[in-house]
Amino acid sequence: KANKKLQILEINKIAANYFFWELGEQSGEIALTYLKKRGLSDEVIRRFGLGFAPKDGRKLYRYLKEKGYSDGLLMESGLFSADERNGAYCKFWNRVMFPIMDANSRVIGFGGRVMGEGEPKYLNSPETLLFDKSRNLYGLNYARKSKAGYLIVCEGYMDVIALQKAGFTGAVASLGTAFTSGQASLLRRYVDQVYLTYDSDDAGTRAALRALPIIKEAGISGKIIRMDPYKDPDELINKEGAEGFQKRIDEAENGFMYSLKVLMREYDMDSPEGKTKYMNAVAERLTTFEEEIERNNYIEAVAKAYHVEYEDLKQLVKKAALRLG
Ligand code: CTP
Ligand code: MN
Ligand code: MN
Ligand code: MN
Ligand code: MN
Repeated sequence: KANKKLQILEINKIAANYFFWELGEQSGEIALTYLKKRGLSDEVIRRFGLGFAPKDGRKLYRYLKEKGYSDGLLMESGLFSADERNGAYCKFWNRVMFPIMDANSRVIGFGGRVMGEGEPKYLNSPETLLFDKSRNLYGLNYARKSKAGYLIVCEGYMDVIALQKAGFTGAVASLGTAFTSGQASLLRRYVDQVYLTYDSDDAGTRAALRALPIIKEAGISGKIIRMDPYKDPDELINKEGAEGFQKRIDEAENGFMYSLKVLMREYDMDSPEGKTKYMNAVAERLTTFEEEIERNNYIEAVAKAYHVEYEDLKQLVKKAALRLG
């Protein structure tokens, strides 16, 4: 089995080199143009090993067969599908390819993007002997070497590339929106401070809120960076440059305080009744801090931010704690 893993690693490496090579071919020109249009230089393309999966999905299959890999192994690599009519062919075709590397720069899987519109926008390798999405972070092979003292967690491939290119070397992506405890423990090996910068849409906001307790559980302090009015870090950097993102870092919000702001959307803050209900909900959340000092610090911060008396809020938290048992 260990041997099998090594062989799949070999297959992935060959495939990554092949996709990269295809990008330089005549037929890869549309892909290269696409990447250039998105602001990626040859150097960045090389650094992240980006490539192109051509329309003919049989090509990579034949290439690997010539090298002697068995059908069984090729299927286990997650790169191929097979059907009666076509036999085996590469799942990724006519897509821009992003090799996914582990912390040691070994290619463990792939993400492929359609050029322009189309569904699914991204296609990713399935789980394989090597690839466990929930235990890896895209970009970590470079980000782990960052001297910044913190890591930045964002959603996607293009965000990581844009951030690292702009000098935010600690950028990684959770590969989609669901952040896991496996990813949190991975982060904890390198830092105790993380900035979460998910997309500004509802899915991104929810994902950031869900990630916060997971990060805290791992012993990492998490702050939130919002991208509005832009979609995501890639877009913000394209519009405002590195300075724009640095400003967001400087203004990053404590995760708990941010979650209270989001909670506010559920209440009618213009009525005394709605505001009271909201403060009670806030008090309930404050009870989750088990450490007295920490809880008091947060009560103080909330009291200040919402212009209520510290003692009043403290009473409210006490009542909430009794109510919640
Ligand atoms: N993703 C995925 N499958 C999808 C859509 C998204 O795996 N169908 C993952 C990809 O890792 C993607 C990330 O979720 O990079 C974020 O998705 P999204 O915000 O939709 O895409 P962007 O990264 O912003 O991609 P782009 O800028 O190329 O549109
Ligand atoms: Mn998104
Ligand atoms: Mn996005
Ligand atoms: Mn994007
Ligand atoms: Mn104020």
